[in-house]
Amino acid sequence: MMRIAVTGSKGQVATSLLERGRAKAEVVALGRPAFDLTDRAAVLTGLEAARPDVVVNAAAYTAVDKAETEEAAAVRVNGDGAGHVAEAAARLGVPLLHLSTDYVFDGALDRPYREDDPTSPTGAYGRSKLAGEKAVADRCEDSAILRTAWVYSPFGANFVRTMLRLNETRDEVGVVADQRGNPTSALDIADALIATIAARMKDDASPALRGVFHMTGSGEATWADLAETVFHQAAARGRRLTHVRRIATADYPTPARRPANSRLDNEKLARVYGVRLPEWRQSVESCCDRLLS
Ligand SMILES: NC(=O)c1ccc[n+]([C@@H]2O[C@H](COP(=O)([O-])OP(=O)(O)OC[C@H]3O[C@@H](n4cnc5c(N)ncnc54)[C@H](OP(=O)(O)O)[C@@H]3O)[C@@H](O)[C@H]2O)c1
Repeated sequence: MMRIAVTGSKGQVATSLLERGRAKAEVVALGRPAFDLTDRAAVLTGLEAARPDVVVNAAAYTAVDKAETEEAAAVRVNGDGAGHVAEAAARLGVPLLHLSTDYVFDGALDRPYREDDPTSPTGAYGRSKLAGEKAVADRCEDSAILRTAWVYSPFGANFVRTMLRLNETRDEVGVVADQRGNPTSALDIADALIATIAARMKDDASPALRGVFHMTGSGEATWADLAETVFHQAAARGRRLTHVRRIATADYPTPARRPANSRLDNEKLARVYGVRLPEWRQSVESCCDRLLS
């Protein structure tokens, strides 16, 4: 069986990959404290010991707002750390799939972003992830950078779980309605990673399989749309129906500025790898189903 080493063992994507990969691959999850991305030697020896056929880098400093006051710490993980993982994969001669983010874009475009649109992050987290993309491209020729967005799952801290927690006590919640993006289930990312790896392993020579790809849920939404979908799922299972008050970004100030348009165009992944993620609504429903039953 193929061996996949995934970093960030307790994160949403790694946890999902452990669950979804079980039948198809041996998934080895590497995480802190032993495997710290900021420790180059630990990354090199940890990945070597894992003897992977492919590496997935899902570890990241993901606290978007906190990064504004801790940019150096974010860069050590998302920039330098990603570079260490890329160096390790290159030394082992195995492909690397590296996860990145919609926040490398500033959101000014009026259509979904394509892979080759110019990047221009508006915050420290986006800058640190862009540094990671560059480090990966520089250090590991056989790599694919997969930009995802708005990730939720039954695991860890995420928007869907926050909304379900608010539903327990609140009749109304104000949610931002002027940012558009692609809600993405980490379980769908895991399935897509497995399909991508399978296609990659069948054809390891093609340079077309390398480079940047967008990997998000199909369809688009605002945070308010996403919250409404969650609350309807809760109500359908006998919980209260929390009302969404649609607010503007300006009414909900956060330390990091978020792009108004962070929609990603997924056609390249479908064309090159034949991989397409499900409609976001369907996946939000199954996540809520799992969390509420
Ligand atoms: N979540 C989103 O909405 C979103 C959006 C776009 C892109 N992405 C990208 O998708 C990928 C996966 O995100 P996710 O949602 O699964 O993230 P997550 O749930 O926040 O998990 C990130 C994991 O990275 C680990 N980590 C942090 N610093 C580390 C370090 N120095 N060394 C080793 N591990 C470290 C954390 O470990 P601990 O458990 O020890 O803290 C955590 O388990 C990341 O590349 C992220 O940038 C996420």
